[in-house]
Amino acid sequence: MGTVAAQDKNTIDLGAPAAERDIDRGLEHYFLESDAFRRVLRGETTVILGNRGAGKSAIFQIVARRSRANGARVIELAPEDYSYEMLQRTMQTEEQGSWAKQGAYAAAWKYTLLVLVMKELCKKQVRSKNASEAAIRKYVRDHHRQPGMGKLWALISYLKRLEGFKIGPYEAQVKTKELERLYKLEEIRHLVPHLQKALTDQQVVVVIDELDKGWDSSEDAQAFISGLFQACVALNGLSANLRMYISLRQELYENTPSLYEDAQKHRDLIESVSWSEADLRSLIARRIRYSLPRLAEATDEKCWNALFAAGRGTRRDDAFRYIVDRTLHRPREMILFCTQCLHTAGERRSPLPLRMDTIALAEFEYSRGRTHDVAAEQRFQYPDVLSVFEAFRGQVHTFERRSLEYLCLEIITGEVTVGARARRWLADYDEDTLIDVLWKIGFLTAEVAAGTACTDGPLTFVGHHQAPQLDVRNVRRFAIHPMFRACLGTREVDADIPCRRHGG
Ligand SMILES: Nc1ncnc2c1ncn2[C@@H]1O[C@H](COP(=O)(O)OP(=O)(O)O)[C@@H](O)[C@H]1O
Ligand SMILES: [Mg+2]
Repeated sequence: MGTVAAQDKNTIDLGAPAAERDIDRGLEHYFLESDAFRRVLRGETTVILGNRGAGKSAIFQIVARRSRANGARVIELAPEDYSYEMLQRTMQTEEQGSWAKQGAYAAAWKYTLLVLVMKELCKKQVRSKNASEAAIRKYVRDHHRQPGMGKLWALISYLKRLEGFKIGPYEAQVKTKELERLYKLEEIRHLVPHLQKALTDQQVVVVIDELDKGWDSSEDAQAFISGLFQACVALNGLSANLRMYISLRQELYENTPSLYEDAQKHRDLIESVSWSEADLRSLIARRIRYSLPRLAEATDEKCWNALFAAGRGTRRDDAFRYIVDRTLHRPREMILFCTQCLHTAGERRSPLPLRMDTIALAEFEYSRGRTHDVAAEQRFQYPDVLSVFEAFRGQVHTFERRSLEYLCLEIITGEVTVGARARRWLADYDEDTLIDVLWKIGFLTAEVAAGTACTDGPLTFVGHHQAPQLDVRNVRRFAIHPMFRACLGTREVDADIPCRRHGG
């Protein structure tokens, strides 16, 4: 047993924490198919919502691979393809030109996506002789031959044309006429029936991921996204063989009113990714199984026990419990924490299966990384929130509402020092709104009474990801989420306070 386990440590590879790299490490083999994924694959979902690390790109990676394997042509729009900063620099503001940007972006997106699809169809090796394909090919040859232009060149140039007529020095009549032509996509409208025809025997899939990269919530960024959504919904109606998918970060979606309101009319096209604890256990078990062929037939539990020593059945010595409690239930966190455990074990030459002391040692690095990540994730809405987390350094894990309010008040009034950029947004806050923010971003958990849908015991702290509908104004006690504790060096609660869930 000893030697087998010693070899295992070198062979267990839990994959990469981002799907774009994980795909070459074995994602296809250990990908966990959720209902959400299957609805995407069937084309029933257009927008995938999820937090960072929840598995949006993984779904797209697998959809792309499977679609290609089925003969579809796949277009992937990658982060370097869009630059909000550049758009903002290039485009006039709505105020300057009194033009409704969302509509302009929707038209420009429709145009861009149609052009991308037509260009993709032209790449087909076997050229069919039919008239539709010939018409498309002619159009692409005549209008889109610029080599070396980025994929979104068409979008920018179309927007510029719209802008030109919107605010340029034209006669009102010319203006109206030209704008109408542009909004109606006059240049390519006649090609739509040809495209539909060409799509009868060729599936095309477009995946648009990482729209949050570089997100600055500017007027252009918001119009960019809501326009894109409108365009995708419209184009998905053209043919069953044309499928466009967008992924968005949950919070970005909720904070973009123009998109959010529009999307409410299409609730059925939107899907959130979320993970149960059992699925998170499976996620790691599958990776272990893939690394260790001798476990090919083993249960999830047996796989876990190959990596982490089985406990004696208490909450404190159950590795899975300990790890999952220190996540916001996102797969990336599970992979990062478990990989850190293996790394720590490697440095200390600890044998497999790993014991709780190794996990506890790995926890600091993990906790520090995640604390910084969460802060970075919030940098547009709550700049410098890391310095607000810092204000909790050395505190106890759990707070009565009163003492939490007191600490928040100290943060707001400046008695506790926080970063200058945090000062700015904190200026509009009172203790209740600050508590609400810290709850929503996952930093605080709230105590809920037994029998609540989200509890499985007598007394439990839950996070926003477990109970998003909870109104924290009525919560009496809070705790710092265990994920942040090692990083902030917070202290154990007094022994007589029952704290079941995060008691470790
Ligand atoms: N359904 C899944 N099955 C297996 N691994 C997954 C699944 N979803 C996500 N992962 C893994 O979790 C990590 C984070 O997922 P990713 O798709 O990169 O997140 P994001 O939502 O930020 O795009 C990656 O390593 C990815 O391969
Ligand atoms: Mg991603």
